Amino acid sequence: MQCSWKVVILLALVAIVIQYAVLRPFRTMAHNILNRHRPEEHPHSFHVSGKTHILILAASRSGSSFLGQLFNHHPDVFYLYEPLNHIQTALKSTPANRRMILGASRDLLRGLFNCDLHLLEDYITPRPENHITNQLWRRGASKALCTPPVCDSFSPHRGYITERNCIETCGSLNLTLASQSCQQRGNVVIKTVRVPEVSDVRDLLEDPRLNLKVIQLVRDPRGVLASRMMSFPDNYLLMRLWKMKHQKPEGLNLTHVSVCEDFLSSVSTALRQPDWLRGRYMLVRYEDLSSHTLQKTQEIFKTLRLSFDENVMDWIDKNTEGNMGRWSYMDVYGTKRDSATNSERWRLRLSFDMVEYLQTLCKTTLHQLGYKIVNSSEELENVSLSLVEEHWRPFQ
Ligand SMILES: *[C@@H]1O[C@H](CO)[C@@H](O)[C@H](O)[C@H]1NC(C)=O
Ligand SMILES: *[C@@H]1O[C@H](CO)[C@@H](O)[C@H](O)[C@H]1NC(C)=O
Ligand SMILES: *[C@@H]1O[C@H](CO)[C@@H](O)[C@H](O)[C@H]1NC(C)=O
Ligand SMILES: *[C@@H]1O[C@H](CO)[C@@H](O)[C@H](O)[C@H]1NC(C)=O
Repeated sequence: MQCSWKVVILLALVAIVIQYAVLRPFRTMAHNILNRHRPEEHPHSFHVSGKTHILILAASRSGSSFLGQLFNHHPDVFYLYEPLNHIQTALKSTPANRRMILGASRDLLRGLFNCDLHLLEDYITPRPENHITNQLWRRGASKALCTPPVCDSFSPHRGYITERNCIETCGSLNLTLASQSCQQRGNVVIKTVRVPEVSDVRDLLEDPRLNLKVIQLVRDPRGVLASRMMSFPDNYLLMRLWKMKHQKPEGLNLTHVSVCEDFLSSVSTALRQPDWLRGRYMLVRYEDLSSHTLQKTQEIFKTLRLSFDENVMDWIDKNTEGNMGRWSYMDVYGTKRDSATNSERWRLRLSFDMVEYLQTLCKTTLHQLGYKIVNSSEELENVSLSLVEEHWRPFQ
């Protein structure tokens, strides 16, 4: 008897020692681990559909069509090319201000990510009847809208359906079928150049019903400017005059070449790494995508937990070695090109004094995005001299 209470005390002591010395650190550790991954701490984990929603955010002429095509050819992706264009067109003749347009854009994006394509009907002219339209902007750029169940004329395994081919063969678009096609896929990808900066979609990033990831695509502003001068000549009259006359025109000022300001304000939010972007944002340089397409695409897909698909591989194969394949409809908005050299073509289109002028305006942006300044016309024209800093990391 006497020895048994000693044993009890001893056991109790041992238990206390174990509790404090051994178990407690484990419990704290377990607690920490659990907390770190506790779903309640991420409002985003509540999204119901199980889909991943991906927004490609870019400035115009920065290569977003190209990035979009990489997703478009993935069989588990429902891709839409610039649906916000309909809002801009519809509101053009009304006194809508920037905030109203952004609000409408956000609502439309939210609906489209949830596969409700009928929402587009409010903005399409003429208004679709019975959910049928032939006015969806660049419908042919979306493979899902040219293959079953939306259109039975093309096999989903067919690699190249030109936009013209799709529109001529598939006929009018049934938006109900389009919504169904969207529902069948695990990822909805929307490309836009009509959202100025990432904070404009903060609401969507914080929406627990969505699982939104943003890929922001940037490009060397010198390349963007050269490309815009070609594509929108009326907006860049003075710059074009400069090129023709080999002399800077009187009256040329910042408003005529605002590309750097746009870029900087657009990426600066992300560079501050706010909480609401954590784990949901990726910054991609077009030049990297263009010169290491396969590797960069794999990296992007891996980050998004998207499998790497042979259809995507095929598309890269056919579109990155100067082989134009049969992708021949997109001359103006261009995916049809040798992507390896396209990102550098501006160097032969802008004169050195134009580049120099731009560089003084864009110094911060160039530095922040990892682009090298050129110091002479020889450097500018020597395309074997890379202007992209190889070991650039946006977040240091
Ligand atoms: C559009 O597709 C839906 C779903 O398959 C179908 O019920 C509807 O009849 C179609 N509309 C027209 C006008 O064909
Ligand atoms: C720049 O040019 C535009 C149009 O040519 C003019 O309206 C604007 O006032 C100018 N801005 C500056 C800062 O000079
Ligand atoms: C131009 O000169 C700057 C400063 O010396 C240098 O950092 C940059 O790399 C040079 N540009 C090129 C393309 O070599
Ligand atoms: C072009 O740049 C490369 C790489 O720096 C250099 O080796 C080559 O000599 C340059 N060519 C000319 C013509 O300057």
